[in-house]
Amino acid sequence: MADQNNSVHRVAGDSKKRVEGFSKLTREEKVAWIAQGFLEPGSSAGEQIASFLHSDAGVQRILSGLSENTLCNFPMPYGIAPNFLINDEWYAVPMVIEESSVVAAASSAAKFWSARGGFLTKVLSTVKLGQVHFSYKGNKARLFQVQEELTARLRAEAAAITANMEQRGGGVLGIDLLDFTHLEPEYYQLLVRFETCDSMGANFINSVLEQFGRSLVAFVETHAGFEDTDREVDIIMAILSNFTPECIVHAEVSCPVEALEGACEHMDGPAFAEKFRKAVRIAEIDPYRATTHNKGIFNGVDAVVLASGNDFRAVEACGHAYAAKDGQYRSLSHCTVENGVFRFWMDLPLALGTVGGLTKLHPLAGLSLDILGNPSAPKLMEIIAATGLAQNFAALRSLVTTGIQKGHMKMHLQNILHHLGATDQEAQAVQAYFEDKVVSFSSVREFLQLQRIGGIIE
Ligand code: MEV
Repeated sequence: MADQNNSVHRVAGDSKKRVEGFSKLTREEKVAWIAQGFLEPGSSAGEQIASFLHSDAGVQRILSGLSENTLCNFPMPYGIAPNFLINDEWYAVPMVIEESSVVAAASSAAKFWSARGGFLTKVLSTVKLGQVHFSYKGNKARLFQVQEELTARLRAEAAAITANMEQRGGGVLGIDLLDFTHLEPEYYQLLVRFETCDSMGANFINSVLEQFGRSLVAFVETHAGFEDTDREVDIIMAILSNFTPECIVHAEVSCPVEALEGACEHMDGPAFAEKFRKAVRIAEIDPYRATTHNKGIFNGVDAVVLASGNDFRAVEACGHAYAAKDGQYRSLSHCTVENGVFRFWMDLPLALGTVGGLTKLHPLAGLSLDILGNPSAPKLMEIIAATGLAQNFAALRSLVTTGIQKGHMKMHLQNILHHLGATDQEAQAVQAYFEDKVVSFSSVREFLQLQRIGGIIE
């Protein structure tokens, strides 16, 4: 039927845009195919793409091998936010981010708090989770009766996979059998708790879970206590959960409200503290504000997660799920002003690794970890949570005082000047002129043109 009305096998549009076996083409062939089908004739894409390959073939081989169909690299700025005092130790924090002002804001907040005792951080727990989702048509009571025997068998049959992790102090912490048949017929789950030490542990967890799935099927098929009609288990999927509400780090800053003097030119410490507290409170109440507020936290968090070769999608997904853990999406950070003391903190779930995966493979991830003193995974959780809190502090400080555009526009102006090919002398004149004016691309271009025509700037 579908064939007749031509809705399934129809090849839409220009067939030059469709390809079989793209992955088997060489890099050069891929580029040529893209240029031919998707770019204007005579485009310089080939040279442009080639210019973003790494000059060291070995490094390029590593980078190309990280993903599929790689044409070249996509550079992002790699910067440092210095002056982080965390639990009385100094850190210079590597950050990878394309958004202007983020690194400057983190650095400024780090410096501000380093003069007020710095960040206090503590890892509260490091448990990671995985699930085996399965269907079972048989006798529920029987399944739960043999639960202990089942979990012992699962552990025993996964021993070859878990031995190494156990030697490092980790492994499978617990296995729960959960019944979801009130929500979906025949649906059960094994919820497994893991400790993966300094590794993010995704491969380890998924390997164990897949083995658990095989063992579960075999256990029910062969166990003497099951009727023949009760033996059918169908594994739907076995995969880690990126929601890790028990892999949590606490970060906080605090000081007497008077010590906030200097946070803002036009407000005294107590007034600033109260306005700041209210800004955080609004993000606790209102999901629209909370989303932007938490985005600001992840500006800092993601940048260090990326710089250290960790999985920022996993960290973001988990953080946002955690922000909605009580049924409403809320601010991840909190603030109180009590008895003359300003306190600003957050508990953040962070599933990270400092060994294995990209952390050692990507040359710059290795460098980031070196700069951070080769931290353990818990220590990296603390550094990243402190950076997220610093970022949040800096954003709110700007928002409740000058607004963020002032700082943003300074950087934006630099980018515009760069784009317009301004000389140092022209840049100085533009900066002076726009000191108290609204910056836009067209206004800067117009000002520069007038200056150039009038020969005001030589
Ligand atoms: C911009 O990237 C981040 C902010 O919007 C965060 C916030 O509003 O709290 C400034």
